[in-house]
Amino acid sequence: MGLAEKMSAGGFSGRLAGAEPLSGYCSIGVGGPAELLAVPENMADLSMLMQVIREDGLPHCLLGGGTNVIFSNGGFAGCVIRLGSAFTHIATAGGGIVVGAAVTTARLLAHCRRHGLAGLEFLVGIPGTVGGALRMNAGVPGLEIGSRVRQLQLHRGGKTEGAVWVDRADLDFRYRDLTGLGEADVILAAELEVEPSTPEEVLAGIEKMQDMRRGKQPMALPSAGCWFKNPPGDSAGRLIDAAGLKGSRVGGAAVSEIHANFLVNEGGATAEDLLRLARLVREAVQDKFGVTLEEEVHVF
Ligand code: EPU
Repeated sequence: MGLAEKMSAGGFSGRLAGAEPLSGYCSIGVGGPAELLAVPENMADLSMLMQVIREDGLPHCLLGGGTNVIFSNGGFAGCVIRLGSAFTHIATAGGGIVVGAAVTTARLLAHCRRHGLAGLEFLVGIPGTVGGALRMNAGVPGLEIGSRVRQLQLHRGGKTEGAVWVDRADLDFRYRDLTGLGEADVILAAELEVEPSTPEEVLAGIEKMQDMRRGKQPMALPSAGCWFKNPPGDSAGRLIDAAGLKGSRVGGAAVSEIHANFLVNEGGATAEDLLRLARLVREAVQDKFGVTLEEEVHVF
């Protein structure tokens, strides 16, 4: 029995789709099909899915808003998981915000604005879901979502299958990364630290952050955000620009003229165009400055 049949037989209530094109789920608009796309609607669905995946030894990956990932033209030979409706909750509790991983960062910010809760304004302009933002420890220089986490709710695979809350002290947030999660761990929710403020002040803070970004990053063309991590003490965008690479092209992929650390899809780019352009950029920066750029985007 295949995975899809096992899931249906077990009463999986979410969506299962075979050969689902991933380009529609990724902000950069490229990527071949997922062998299987699964959308668990609740904890029972997720537990069953993770168990069947383990039994079948099927590769899997979690997809949030798809804003910092790229799938090859060949797609993903395994199961791509997107969390469904049971993971879209948001509430203020005990002076913090408890938010599901499938909530978008835009909705989280709207909640903060409405309730006058400060501290997460830096998330403006960072698209995607809370789960993705946590996995990537999204932020701007000096401000990262990881430093706002009180605890994370994880679905743990293996012997201790089920949902557990893990304290911040036991989590390892790094620059654009959260390390130490197990292969079968899934971020379900977070409790985030915020400060009481007013809707007006929170809005002013959001607008200030937005102004800092305005005109400095390409918004009109599809991208995956910053492609490379900043090397210690420098900026990947500055290095790529100084190497004279703005406007470089491979097929439909280009180094943005606005911010050199954004590779943009000018129309009709394939994943391979983008990956070849990224390789060209990495090699040029290595040759010119002796700096090895590390990818921030997750490439599947
Ligand atoms: N610069 C250039 N040319 C460019 C781009 C930048 O010379 O094409 C120079 C700027 O003039 C500035 C320096 O490089 O002196 C830094 O640029 P910027 O302020 O744009 O910041 P960044 O380091 O390139 C970081 C984050 C962004 C985040 C901005 C917010 C990383 C890899 N990048 O960019 O995060 O939005 O700060 O200011 O950490 C992301 O992680 O996906 C992302 C976009």
